[in-house]
Amino acid sequence: MSELPQHVAIIMDGNGRWAMERGLARVQGHQSGVESIRSIVRAAGELGIKYLTLYAFSTENWGRPQDEVGFLMNLLSNYLDKELAEITKNNIQFRMIGRLDDLPAEIQSKIRRNLKATEANTGMVLTLALSYSSRIEIVDAVKKIAEKVKSGELAAQDITPDVFSRYLYTAELPDPDLLIRTSGEMRISNFLLWQLSYTEIYVTEKLWPDFRKDDLLKAIQEYQTRERRFGRHPVRSKN
Ligand code: FPP
Repeated sequence: MSELPQHVAIIMDGNGRWAMERGLARVQGHQSGVESIRSIVRAAGELGIKYLTLYAFSTENWGRPQDEVGFLMNLLSNYLDKELAEITKNNIQFRMIGRLDDLPAEIQSKIRRNLKATEANTGMVLTLALSYSSRIEIVDAVKKIAEKVKSGELAAQDITPDVFSRYLYTAELPDPDLLIRTSGEMRISNFLLWQLSYTEIYVTEKLWPDFRKDDLLKAIQEYQTRERRFGRHPVRSKN
């Protein structure tokens, strides 16, 4: 397949609506959403995507009713247990971005275990955004940079976009080539604001629990028709 995006990021939206449409409780939408995660992680790995980043829980999501937050944390906890074998078998490297310290202690230790267990893997890098806020990520980076400038380790005039990027949670990830958002909303929702500067955006009406390999392929095919210019003129052939 030509011009496969190296890094695909996904805003997994529409779990609640999927459940409501079926007369189910919202949390059942999240439950089904985990099946989509499994299917897309497998498909992306098979396709040869190098980096897959999933927006699983935002800092704003802490404001949802306690029952729903508890349910999501349970799903996450089970996912971290159950998927480790599959992730290991498929040579996937597990990562997370966001505020690890905000998460329940039990989940923190499961995340640390999964990070350690998969750190030597050389296949796809699967990153979960958990308790993630792009604005907080940027402010955290500014704080770290300010400390370095204060201590004299970094000169203000040496702060370039490249240097700044190294202070973000995503320091070791390339910027996403393709952002997919399910459920039709045309929003970035505080996700990777810096990193998405030149990313191609694909929005589908499909709700996340219905999103499967075919939908991922459609998004990639659409991506392959886009002309990426990075603010420059289109590349023209010499003839
Ligand atoms: C949005 O649905 C989705 C989320 C809140 C996050 C996605 C979470 C999962 C797929 C499951 C848990 C994650 C892991 C990693 C086990 P919504 O409730 O905002 O949908 P709505 O907009 O239709 O209400």
